[in-house]
Amino acid sequence: MAGLEAIKYERGKLEVLDQLRLPHEFVYDKVSTCEEAFDCIKAMRVRGAPAIAIVAALALAVELFDKKDGAYSKEELIRFIDSRLDYLQGSRPTAVDLSNAIKLLKGKSRGAASVSTSSEPIAACTEVRQAYIEAAEKILDDDLSTNLAIGRYGAEYLRRQHSPVDAPIDEADQLRYYTTSPPGTQGLPPRTYRKLSVLTHCNTGSLATSGHGTALGIIRSLHKMNYLDHAFCTETRPYNQGSRLTAFELVYEKIPATLITDSMAGALFARKKAEMNISAVIVGADRVARNGDTANKIGTYSLAVLAKAHGVKFVVAAPTTSVDLETVSGAHIKIENRAKHELTQISGAIVENGKVDTGRTARVAIADQRIDVWNPSFDVTPAEYIDAIITEKGEVVRDSKGRFNFQAIMPERW
Ligand code: MRU
Repeated sequence: MAGLEAIKYERGKLEVLDQLRLPHEFVYDKVSTCEEAFDCIKAMRVRGAPAIAIVAALALAVELFDKKDGAYSKEELIRFIDSRLDYLQGSRPTAVDLSNAIKLLKGKSRGAASVSTSSEPIAACTEVRQAYIEAAEKILDDDLSTNLAIGRYGAEYLRRQHSPVDAPIDEADQLRYYTTSPPGTQGLPPRTYRKLSVLTHCNTGSLATSGHGTALGIIRSLHKMNYLDHAFCTETRPYNQGSRLTAFELVYEKIPATLITDSMAGALFARKKAEMNISAVIVGADRVARNGDTANKIGTYSLAVLAKAHGVKFVVAAPTTSVDLETVSGAHIKIENRAKHELTQISGAIVENGKVDTGRTARVAIADQRIDVWNPSFDVTPAEYIDAIITEKGEVVRDSKGRFNFQAIMPERW
C-alpha cells in the first residue's frame, strides 16, 4: 500500500475506509448517497474534523453526478442541494469544518445559479451541478496542501524554540542530535541541536484528513526533517483513536513511537521530559473559537494543564477551516455527547496464544452494564493554556495584550 488513505474518490465514486475495523482490517465502503455518508460519519467509520467535512461534501457530489437534469428547475436544484447539506450538518455537531464546508458549497452553488447565462433550464442545472462538484473536489485537494503547510510551519515553530548545544556529544548519543544552520543565519557555520520528542492525543493523521494530517502531520514533518527523537501517543479513551489509529499510523510510517494511556501523561513529563527532550504536546482541533479556545478530543484540556505545569509547549495544529470566528469563546461550543457503550464495552480482534487473529473480532463488556456514564466526546482548552496555534497560513499572531488574533491570517472572514 502507498500512503494511508481514509477517502478514495474519483468523479462519481466515493469509498471510505471503515476505521472501526482498524488496525486489523482494511475495508473500504462505497458511499453513494448522503444517507450513507450521514451513517458513516455518525457511526465514526470516518472521523476527524477535516475528513468528516470531505466525506459529506463528496457524498453529495456523487449524488449530483448521478442526477439527471431536465426534471427540475435550477431553483429546485438549489433547494435540493441546501436540504441535503442541512441534513448532513446534523451528523456530528462539534467539528466546525463541516459547517464551513456547507457554507462554502451553498455559496458556490448559488453563485453558479446566479451567473448562469443559459436560458435553457437543463444547461443551467448542469452548470450548478458542475460548480458544486468542482467545489467539493477542491475541498479534498486543498486539505492535503493545507496539511503539508501546517506540517512545515509546525516543525519550524518547534525548531525555533531550541538553542544549539555547544558541549561535546558522546558518540553513543550522536543519533539524538542534528546539525543545521540556525534559522536566519544561512551562510554561517552549522550548529548542533538536540532532537525533540513530542506527545500527541487522539488521531489527526492521514486517517482524519485527506492525507499527511494536522498534529500528526507536524510529527511526520519533524521526522522527515530529522528533528524528531520520539513520538508518544495517548490511547485516547474511551474510543481509542490513539491506540487504534495513531499508533498504527506511527508504526506504518516507521516513526519511533511509544503508546501510553491517557493517565500516564503526568508521569511521562515528570520522569522522561529531560531524558527524552519532551518539548511539546501537539494536538488537532475540532473547533477553534475567535479567542483561541479550542475544542478537541476529550482529554486534551487535561494534557494542556499538565503541559503548563511541566513547562512543555502546548501546540494546536488547525487548518483555518477548523476556525470558527462566529463563536466568541469556548463556552459557546456545542459538545457532542456519545453513547454509553463506548465506555462500557470495547471491541477488537481476538488474541489466541499471544497471536492476533485479524479475522475474528469481538465486542466485550468492560464495566457493569448498569452503571451510568458521562461521555462528552470533546473538551475545550482555554486559550491561556495554548502556546501556539499553527494553521496552513502560519502561526496565529497575538495582539498587544497577548490574545490570539486571526485577522492577519483570515482577513476575508474577520
Ligand atoms: O471523535 P473524532 O475521532 O472525530 O475526534 C477527532 C479529533 O478530536 C481530532 O483531534 C480532530 O478532529 C482533529 S483531526 C485532524
